[in-house]
Amino acid sequence: RRKIAILTSGGDAPGMNAAVRGVVRAAIMRGCDAYAVHEGYQGLVDGGDMIRKMGWDDVQGYLSTGGTIIGTARCKAFRERPGRLLAARNLVKEGIDALVVCGGDGSLTGADLFRSEWPSLLEELVKTKELTSEEAERFTHLNIVGLVGSIDNDMSSTDITIGAVTCLHRICESIDSISSTASSHSRAFVVEVMGRHCGWLALMAGIATGADFIFIPERPPSGENWRDNMCAEIKAHRDLGKRKTIVIVCEGAIDSNLNPITSKDMMDLLTDRLDLDTRMTILGHVQRGGKPCVYDRNLATMQGVEAVEAVLASRPGIPSPMIGMNENKITRTDLMKAVALTGEVAKAIGRKDFIGAMELRDPAFNQ
Ligand code: F6P
Repeated sequence: RRKIAILTSGGDAPGMNAAVRGVVRAAIMRGCDAYAVHEGYQGLVDGGDMIRKMGWDDVQGYLSTGGTIIGTARCKAFRERPGRLLAARNLVKEGIDALVVCGGDGSLTGADLFRSEWPSLLEELVKTKELTSEEAERFTHLNIVGLVGSIDNDMSSTDITIGAVTCLHRICESIDSISSTASSHSRAFVVEVMGRHCGWLALMAGIATGADFIFIPERPPSGENWRDNMCAEIKAHRDLGKRKTIVIVCEGAIDSNLNPITSKDMMDLLTDRLDLDTRMTILGHVQRGGKPCVYDRNLATMQGVEAVEAVLASRPGIPSPMIGMNENKITRTDLMKAVALTGEVAKAIGRKDFIGAMELRDPAFNQ
């Protein structure tokens, strides 16, 4: 019997539980044993009770629950080879040779590194007598499948990531609420949204709420006079009788010199230059928590099922797949190519953290 494990890693995202449920139930339906690794990569490193066999009923209620019930972590130990050695030993001891990782780009990079190191990890474990050669020989290949769970929607090779749509709904509901109080007081609001170095949430929320301005890392404001132009435009609207101003700032927004554009800077600008009664709202983790919307539940379920199919189809030499959604179809793409493409975008906008993550030296690893 094949033994397939799933873990969730990095920042939680609504829909991760549906992904766990999808993998567990699809694995059982296909005659495999399903396992959940608790607390992300930390659970792999710690082993024992952190790797638990899952039955059909163990994932009851998972579809509609936010966050990740099996836990997640940004695990330091797994970034180092000794941590990965422990993780490999624990998997072999449990007889698990397939791992589905649901997380962001850093988590998926770590997963593929683990796969590529697998033979040398096992060799070392045999040398140090942590494993017998018989044990190691039974698990010559580790199957990895990536599911992209991230509110940021910052991964290449997929149109959408698990959790992003729910998060967007949450942001828009919050901005709708802010809008009514802004209109009442004739105020300006600067709303900071998550997304790390990806402006998708800010851009989509800006369109959906009719915001006056948005700031995103991918498209820094052009020209030296962008502040003057922005103030002139807001003033013109105010002169026409507009009673509210909404500016959305992605937390990773930058100007054309790669300097951060902060929500505080924008609040001060509107206050000092336009004398607007301005408030700043940093939405924070309310964006990330809570029930997944229908789209995320179904996306994660379909992708969880596809992840199990990908495990069953995988062979040594076939690159690890990442399950995506492209043009409304669930797709399998090459995980490392997707990570590399994400890196190209990151480089283009000067994301030094991501380039570091690729080298597994940066704190952004395990995003
Ligand atoms: O990657 C998801 C995300 O929510 C980002 O949008 C945000 O920058 C980051 O995680 C926050 O991380 P933490 O929850 O560790 O503060």
